[in-house]
Amino acid sequence: MLAVDDRVIMISGANRGIGQAVARALYDRGYRLSLGVRDPAALETASRDFDPGRVMRQPYEARDRAATEAWVAATAGRFGQIDGLVNAAGILVPAGFEEDAEERYEALWAVNVMGPLRLTRLALPHLRASGRGRIVNLASLSGKRVAGGNAGYAMSKFAVVALSHATRQAGWEDGVRVTALCPGYVATDMVSEVDDPPAQAMIQPADLAQLVATVLALPNTASIAELPVNCRLEDTV
Ligand SMILES: NC(=O)c1ccc[n+]([C@@H]2O[C@H](COP(=O)([O-])OP(=O)(O)OC[C@H]3O[C@@H](n4cnc5c(N)ncnc54)[C@H](OP(=O)(O)O)[C@@H]3O)[C@@H](O)[C@H]2O)c1
Repeated sequence: MLAVDDRVIMISGANRGIGQAVARALYDRGYRLSLGVRDPAALETASRDFDPGRVMRQPYEARDRAATEAWVAATAGRFGQIDGLVNAAGILVPAGFEEDAEERYEALWAVNVMGPLRLTRLALPHLRASGRGRIVNLASLSGKRVAGGNAGYAMSKFAVVALSHATRQAGWEDGVRVTALCPGYVATDMVSEVDDPPAQAMIQPADLAQLVATVLALPNTASIAELPVNCRLEDTV
């Protein structure tokens, strides 16, 4: 049983999918939350029962630098501290290696890499001040191996793993611990077109959220750099 924890955690993409499940799991454990979403109205529905005394909602568009800065500043202003960041916002678009898909590569880079990078840079001083700051980046098994034809998505997720290690090294002495969470298929909108495996045989968002909660709760002396999670057997991960 995890102890109640009132640290302040920022979660991007908190209105649906994995981000929403993480928000729910952390709320249930007592955390104070700052939820970043493109459409705060959509989030209203997803988190109607959350106590506004410990949950704030803020517009977050990964491509918008000013909005990102405003979200971090508003979180620090409201709670006076930031102890954790869960980078869950992300996109999956087809970007094969041999097709002319440069715009899609750029979109993957902007949302999946620049978004988390910018949030990390802005939140890091607060996480350092915490002494037990945490970052969980939603990478993917696609950040550990290349399978299928989507080179662009895999490249963006390899970059997220690299970002995680770079941040881990930068923040270690100040108690910041960083985890690249690397799941296979998770049953969300992102893979609603996939039928092998079927949704019920994929990782469930609530199960992944439990792992995030565990990573956040572990002490500075038990850090998980990478956490691969499988719903089916693979050769190397
Ligand atoms: N599902 C999987 O199989 C799987 C596996 C491994 C890793 N992941 C990773 O896990 C993370 C969450 O994925 P998911 O499955 O929860 O996907 P999802 O259900 O499609 O949700 C994606 C989230 O990202 C937000 N988002 C998309 N573009 C954004 C932008 N430009 N700015 C800000 N927010 C944006 C979406 O907001 P809106 O509602 O406004 O669109 C939504 O909240 C992603 O990084 C994904 O790559 C997913």
